[in-house]
Amino acid sequence: MDTSKFFDLKGKTAIITGGANGIGKASCEILAAYGAKVVVSDYNLEAAEKTAKEINDKGGKAIAIDCNVLEDDALVNLVDQTVKEFGSIEILVNNVGGGGAGKESPYDIEVAQFKKVFDMNVFSMWRLCQLVAPHMKKAGYGSIINMSSMASINKSPAISAYASSKAAINHMTRNLAYDFGPDNIRMNAIGPGATKTAALKTVLTPDLEKAMLKHTPIKRLGEAEDIAGAVLYFAAPISSWTSGQVIFINGGGEQTLDM
Ligand SMILES: NC(=O)c1ccc[n+]([C@@H]2O[C@H](COP(=O)([O-])OP(=O)(O)OC[C@H]3O[C@@H](n4cnc5c(N)ncnc54)[C@H](O)[C@@H]3O)[C@@H](O)[C@H]2O)c1
Repeated sequence: MDTSKFFDLKGKTAIITGGANGIGKASCEILAAYGAKVVVSDYNLEAAEKTAKEINDKGGKAIAIDCNVLEDDALVNLVDQTVKEFGSIEILVNNVGGGGAGKESPYDIEVAQFKKVFDMNVFSMWRLCQLVAPHMKKAGYGSIINMSSMASINKSPAISAYASSKAAINHMTRNLAYDFGPDNIRMNAIGPGATKTAALKTVLTPDLEKAMLKHTPIKRLGEAEDIAGAVLYFAAPISSWTSGQVIFINGGGEQTLDM
């Protein structure tokens, strides 16, 4: 067995949406560390440029591209610019996602808000898959990684838009894996448990953390690099026969908003 190429990403280009911070940033860093040319895309261009600079300063190769995943023109431009700069696309981390955790009571949430969660979490992912697939087919290598959530299988109060959109990601991943598989494009999803990023800080209180840890065998919450480890596995040739899977990275347990 030749193990030398299992994690080798040299010559491959990776786009990461929401790559400036949190799980997206850790994904950019780990993919660059294993040799990928990385496109840090984010609607916060200044932060994306900072992340790209940090990677380049460490000897990696990264550029920043301004992209709000809610805008179709921006998605098209992201793909076009990437091909112009780096010549190919082999890896896509569909990382942007969000919702109003704990604030999605059906008695309060506006229809437009609910739809926006699906636009951001489901539609933008599907659209980017559609845009990158021809390039991956041409490259003869494709790995798409969709960021789901433990919320896709948990039940919690006032989070039905986010949770159901993340559940849609799981099943979209399994189905698109069928469509793209014959072109050697793999598609997998990662469902992080509670991971210490800016997004989590908006809902985490010391009491909630304590309650989460009660149901978490590994007695800490996640760090962004815990999730990035799975991103690396799915992006790299080591997982070349792995597709249509959803893996939950959660310290072996379950973290919900319901104390
Ligand atoms: N942190 C957690 O506990 C957790 C748990 C489960 C799932 N997730 C998922 O992981 C992913 C990343 O979350 P995170 O915690 O790292 O978030 P984060 O808030 O730390 O970072 C999100 C990044 O995405 C960018 N962004 C937000 N909206 C955007 C848009 N419309 N277009 C382009 N960029 C945009 C932000 O500028 C930021 O750089 C999300 O899909 C989230 O649902 C996170």
